[in-house]
Amino acid sequence: MEQEILINKKNYNILVIGAGHVGLVTAACFAELGHNVICVDNDRQKIKHLNKLKLPFYEPQLDRLVIKNFKKRLFFSSSLEKNIKEAEIIFIAVGTPPLPDGSADLTSIENIATIIASNLNSYKLIVEKSTVPVHTGKKIKETITKYKKNDLAFDVASNPEFLREGKAIYDFFNPDRIVIGVETKCAEKILKNIYAPFKAPIVVTNINTAELIKHASNSFLATKISFINAISKICDLCGANVKKVADALGLDKRIGKSFLDAGVGYGGFCFPKDLEAFIYISKKLGYDFALLKEVKRINEEQKLYFVEKIKEKLWVLKNKKIAILGLSFKPQTDDMRFAPSIDIIGAFLSEGSIIKAYDPKAIGQAKKIFSKKDNIYFATNPYDAVKNCDCLCLLTEWEEFKNLDFKKIKKLMNTALIADGRNFLDKEKLQKIGFDYIGLGV
Ligand code: UDX
Repeated sequence: MEQEILINKKNYNILVIGAGHVGLVTAACFAELGHNVICVDNDRQKIKHLNKLKLPFYEPQLDRLVIKNFKKRLFFSSSLEKNIKEAEIIFIAVGTPPLPDGSADLTSIENIATIIASNLNSYKLIVEKSTVPVHTGKKIKETITKYKKNDLAFDVASNPEFLREGKAIYDFFNPDRIVIGVETKCAEKILKNIYAPFKAPIVVTNINTAELIKHASNSFLATKISFINAISKICDLCGANVKKVADALGLDKRIGKSFLDAGVGYGGFCFPKDLEAFIYISKKLGYDFALLKEVKRINEEQKLYFVEKIKEKLWVLKNKKIAILGLSFKPQTDDMRFAPSIDIIGAFLSEGSIIKAYDPKAIGQAKKIFSKKDNIYFATNPYDAVKNCDCLCLLTEWEEFKNLDFKKIKKLMNTALIADGRNFLDKEKLQKIGFDYIGLGV
């Protein structure tokens, strides 16, 4: 029996569909673990570049793993059908972009399920890796069953991804837990074999539960961030310090200290999109998840609150020059998707301010977002960005911003005002130099 052979294997022929953040990292890391991996994407240009070892985005350590495994155990292709036939395990890691109503667009997943069905030539384990709404696994199974042309067996499983951008390779090899949602012992055994090299606990559930774990994890983390951002506002109102509050909260083991950094809010392609999708799914299931709506509202409000605080100091924003340090939604990535910087810069631009922006990695992406007509200029370094500016806004906590020469910056600026959107800089040191410092709850 094919399944029995697979159950007893250590290394598999793996097909990863999608060469985005999740897909490419997963493919490179599985290859590093010794599996034979083919990563396919329907974007031919992307595959062409990958075959020349040009990566579509910046992720620390990823280039090293891709180069090391390329053409030994890691291959890139745009031909899905042929590679389905050769695969034992198929990981689906395609995008599920948000639709206007907040639901996830599952067109690509459905399409892939039909292509798998018509190319099913042996038992295969099909695993959802992308974040998908609960019941997607069930739909994939129904679709494959409907369109397949033979009575060959297959399994569907859910193995949600918890990788953080910028730390994705580290997270892959050092997971807190591995979640596998399965319907059969065979699927469970294969996934356990794949994850055998890891020490992390493996949580085995049914498919619906695994899908829900991903929604619950991301929503809970977003809730923590909005909670501390709400506290930061109260700190501003009563003269308390949110950093100290977060430290003390975090020392309680039941709460934990991570994801309690107040700032201009969360962004990226996961939290905003996943939260929206979870609110939508809950509603569809008959539950109004008002808590998550409030989490989202607090996150939106925090960006405008930050701009308001600057406006209070600068009075009129029209024609004021604002230096933005940090554009990506967080450090160690060039990802600008749903970055708080987009809304904050948008708010300044609509008031008539002039923006000079710098980011170590994301300027290329930012140039695609802002129009040439916008009053935004990109600087080649932080000192160039702050020249003649009325306010320096720090929006992403890149490590290199911590040790800038702030005495030099003060001399270069028009007025010595720093708005630290991540509570990242040393407030007392800056005040000693002579800066007026704005933080969030500090
Ligand atoms: C997240 C999840 O962490 C990951 O498990 C999931 O697989 C994908 O979504 P990611 O989007 O890469 O990962 O970023 P993350 O590090 O979680 O940060 C998300 C956003 O929250 C960033 O904009 C970050 O600046 C913000 N954030 C994070 C805060 O504002 N405060 C914090 O304390 C932590």
